[in-house]
Amino acid sequence: MNGNIADARSYASALDEFIRETNPSSEIVVCPPATLLGEMHGDFKKGGQNCHDQESGAFTGEVSANLLKDSGCEYVIIGHSERREMGELSEQVAQKAGAAHQASLKTIICVGEKEGEDFEQVVSRQLQGSIPDSSNNKNTVIAYEPVWAIGTGKTPSPEEIDQRHKFIKDKTGLLVMYGGSANPDNAKTISALENVDGLLVGGASLKISSFTQIIAAK
Ligand code: PGA
Repeated sequence: MNGNIADARSYASALDEFIRETNPSSEIVVCPPATLLGEMHGDFKKGGQNCHDQESGAFTGEVSANLLKDSGCEYVIIGHSERREMGELSEQVAQKAGAAHQASLKTIICVGEKEGEDFEQVVSRQLQGSIPDSSNNKNTVIAYEPVWAIGTGKTPSPEEIDQRHKFIKDKTGLLVMYGGSANPDNAKTISALENVDGLLVGGASLKISSFTQIIAAK
């Protein structure tokens, strides 16, 4: 819930200019609040931050995958830890991801353990419950985000990140992005790790100058 229409427009035009000038090799996806999706135009892809599991109907206040698609999205983030914290279960994550695939959206499915929890146990369970049958390596990417690293400035060591990503890749056969305090200082090291296929950036994406530094670091 950051930014407003004016911010979104100037962010999109600055990002568009940066991408046209530097032609980065990474795929760039911006996932703003739903009300700002229609305000952001440029040479980048857009994604929603969540969607409902039903196609349409009387679900006051909800946003369907079809509505996201209609607003120009190609992606949607599902099961972010902030939503899991509000009670969203892996089963619901899988239903939402299935609905997103039905609407021809690609899904970024988030998993990650809390501080003190056992990585392998928690993430295995989340992966098993959260990935729908419709997932494949063209329409689904996993975002590994240790909950204790989100918004805290703390990250696992590069070795730990690489090992954990390998664990997830071996289990799923899917691409795996890292999220949790990614910033211009650590982006190069983390994104260069063998088993890291991308970054999911929260706080450091809010300022265009820091987001473009992260893109340039890859
Ligand atoms: P952060 O957030 O980059 O600010 O830690 C990541 C996220 O919210 O997914």
